[in-house]
Amino acid sequence: MPEVKNPIITYTGISQKIVYDDADSTILDCSIANQIPHLHECGGNGRCSTCRIRILEGHSNLSPRTLKEQQMAEFRRWDPSIRLACQCYVKGDVDIQRLVWTSSEINKLQLETIPEGEAEERAIAILFCDIRNFTKMAIENNTFDIAHVLNRFYTIIGDPILFNNGVIYQYIGDEIVGLFGISGGTREKNCRDAARAALGMYYAIEHLNHMELVDFDLRIKTGIGINFGKAFIGHLGHPKHKQLAVVGDPINTASRIQAYNKEVDGRILISEAIFKSLPEGTFEIGREFTTQFAGHEHNSKLYELKGFQETDMQLELQRSLEYLFTNKDEFAEKFYTRVFEKAPGVRALFKKNMQDQGRLLTHMLGGIVYSLSRPEHLETGLAFLGKSHARYGVTKDHYPVVLSSMMETIQEQLGDECSPKLIEAWEKALLYITNEMKKYTN
Ligand code: HEM
Ligand code: FES
Repeated sequence: MPEVKNPIITYTGISQKIVYDDADSTILDCSIANQIPHLHECGGNGRCSTCRIRILEGHSNLSPRTLKEQQMAEFRRWDPSIRLACQCYVKGDVDIQRLVWTSSEINKLQLETIPEGEAEERAIAILFCDIRNFTKMAIENNTFDIAHVLNRFYTIIGDPILFNNGVIYQYIGDEIVGLFGISGGTREKNCRDAARAALGMYYAIEHLNHMELVDFDLRIKTGIGINFGKAFIGHLGHPKHKQLAVVGDPINTASRIQAYNKEVDGRILISEAIFKSLPEGTFEIGREFTTQFAGHEHNSKLYELKGFQETDMQLELQRSLEYLFTNKDEFAEKFYTRVFEKAPGVRALFKKNMQDQGRLLTHMLGGIVYSLSRPEHLETGLAFLGKSHARYGVTKDHYPVVLSSMMETIQEQLGDECSPKLIEAWEKALLYITNEMKKYTN
């Protein structure tokens, strides 16, 4: 088919049309050049699949799949309409739809690695979190919007699962179940992710109690149990309604560990399997318990998780995101005002709309915090960002200016929520990000 000069790419959903005028650009490059938010966690390397798009019209107007894309499509059982934006070039008009946007959508991509119609044994960490007496509390309190509180609750307890590369398996009544490591990862990483998610949930609930529910004289109490072990995972069920199913003793045990909180008035209990998966001295542990769960012939040892002994950078960053980006536009505006005050010459490097630029920046920062739980893609993602910044005319000298402006804006935005641990975590993270980017700058 003859190539069309300057084809049009239509982004369905945002109804934006752009002219494709550089044959060396992939669709991902076009999105970035036109300030269209488009996830690209691995930086266009055909490894993460977050840039995937659905081709709604003009499928034959794209370059064929590259080898990387072909392998990914086969492994994840994609139909031909799904393409990797970082791997395809345009020869004629196309209508596309970006498919991955939220953290929950990224995490769900792991489900594509699970077999259809059969179960496979995988070693995973399992987290059960239950709200005590929530239903009773909801019935007794007509003074506030229970639907609002419920939605807030599910968001704040779901986010820590998603932030830590976990998958929300199911909601059962007042309980949420998260799985960590269903598509791989080391035992240590998966257990650490689950423990970090548990602490993130606990802190978020405490914050909700102290800030939002205090006027209602209400207090949400949670019990969290975590376990690690081999479970059977598959997409099972009726041929027309298959769903993710995870079965095995470690799952039941995680549920019982959660329930054991009630007996000991605990908050977070971890199994010995979790405790032993991380180097000694990692966890701050409170009480220890020994119990025999129904159906088990052996005793189980449980540990009360209080925190990490050393500051966990990811936990601190995750905790701060909600307060930091409550008003993303305001954050970005304050940040860029500082940068331009410190280095007025830098202003000329920004050619496009500054409000859109600010949104891309905060989205990217949130994404980086989030992808710290998938470090395999982070380095290539930052390399890509570093190379594009070199093209924008950014030099090594600019990085310290951006770093100090960012730290000042973070401290201002966090206000009372700011703590030395948070500052330490953000400094460490930003130093890592900018050092990685700087490697590609003159
Ligand atoms: C924490 C480090 C930084 C992050 C996360 C970041 C993030 C971003 C993002 C997401 C974009 C949108 C385009 C793209 O994705 O390539 C962008 C563009 C840009 N950034 Fe950065 N950036 C950082 C550091 C810097 C530094 C040190 C400078 C130098 C002053 C800079 C100057 C620019 C410029 C000039 C553009 C292009 C704007 C335009 O075309 O109008 N950035 N940045
Ligand atoms: S696969 Fe395209 S950005 Fe990662």
